[in-house]
Amino acid sequence: MNHQPMDLPPGPELIASVVAAYERRSEFHGRDDQTAYRLFHGYAEGRPGLTIDRLGEVALITHKVDVEEDLAAISKTLLELHPFASVVAKADRYVSWNSTALSVRALHGELPSDSFEVVDQGLRFWISLHTRKHSGLFLDARPARGWLRKNSYDRRILNLFAFTGSLGVAALAGGAKSVVHVDSKANPLDIARENHLLNDLRVDPRDFLVGNVYQHLPHAQRAKLRFDGIVLDPPPRVPNRMARRRPQGQDYGQFVKLVAPLMAPEGWLLCFFHRFDRSRKAFEQEVLEHAGVSLEPIWRGTSGEDFPEHDLERKLRLTAFVRR
Ligand SMILES: C[S@@+](CC[C@H](N)C(=O)[O-])C[C@H]1O[C@@H](n2cnc3c(N)ncnc32)[C@H](O)[C@@H]1O
Repeated sequence: MNHQPMDLPPGPELIASVVAAYERRSEFHGRDDQTAYRLFHGYAEGRPGLTIDRLGEVALITHKVDVEEDLAAISKTLLELHPFASVVAKADRYVSWNSTALSVRALHGELPSDSFEVVDQGLRFWISLHTRKHSGLFLDARPARGWLRKNSYDRRILNLFAFTGSLGVAALAGGAKSVVHVDSKANPLDIARENHLLNDLRVDPRDFLVGNVYQHLPHAQRAKLRFDGIVLDPPPRVPNRMARRRPQGQDYGQFVKLVAPLMAPEGWLLCFFHRFDRSRKAFEQEVLEHAGVSLEPIWRGTSGEDFPEHDLERKLRLTAFVRR
């Protein structure tokens, strides 16, 4: 994979990179069971700060850098490659020294005003382009959803930092007995409920817990709850107000002390490592040293081929451990 981090290619070179990236993803195009994937991963494909995602019939261009002059040409190129209903540009722009404003606008077609559906490995999920941070489905977690679908049969799953519940939906689609989602925000959990319904999965209101994970876990320990699978996907950093009880963010050494007691024998723990300042080896070591029970890594994964990156420590790293 061509890596040209800080050289900002001029217009025609950027367009050529977008076309080459589209062609590299030929196995994704034209499939009914996969309508959401990354089309251009600028960090490794020639333009850091610029990404393009396919979300159903929408091409979403997200930029943190100024590509204003190239947007029309990118949009035209995308439409030559695929008959997208809309091409949308999304940017968080600085409007003063310390505040940003979200800008979402259609470069072609209509700007979808409501949520719309996409398909990931045959499962359906809601997307919204009007949320500040994220449209609702983490595309780089596709391999994690695939693993969960294959490894959740008949298990009771705890999905921590659940967001819109896509990981739990994958587990239920794979035959999980139950999934409890926990997130500090009510809105994503509402969407998680809708994602269950979209896939004809049962919804039990007790399975959607709004609250601080760090405060829930000690309660769950005291109640002697046990799970056969735990998904742990903490954000890299947590605002102080959210982490009155430590640890903050991806402090796995602390975290695993809170979750390991909830693991049933032969239960697994699927960890997402996002921080680029630490290696997978260091993260895993931390988990194994601090668990207080015997854990063994059973699977290592990362994001899919639509997130090319030759430095594997700069990608999402996934490790599943089983309790022996
Ligand atoms: C990276 S997203 C998780 C993505 C999710 N695993 C998925 O694949 O869709 C992080 C989520 O953690 C939630 N969150 C952050 N701090 C939290 C806390 N202390 N307790 C509970 N949820 C928290 C955020 O609201 C956000 O939805």
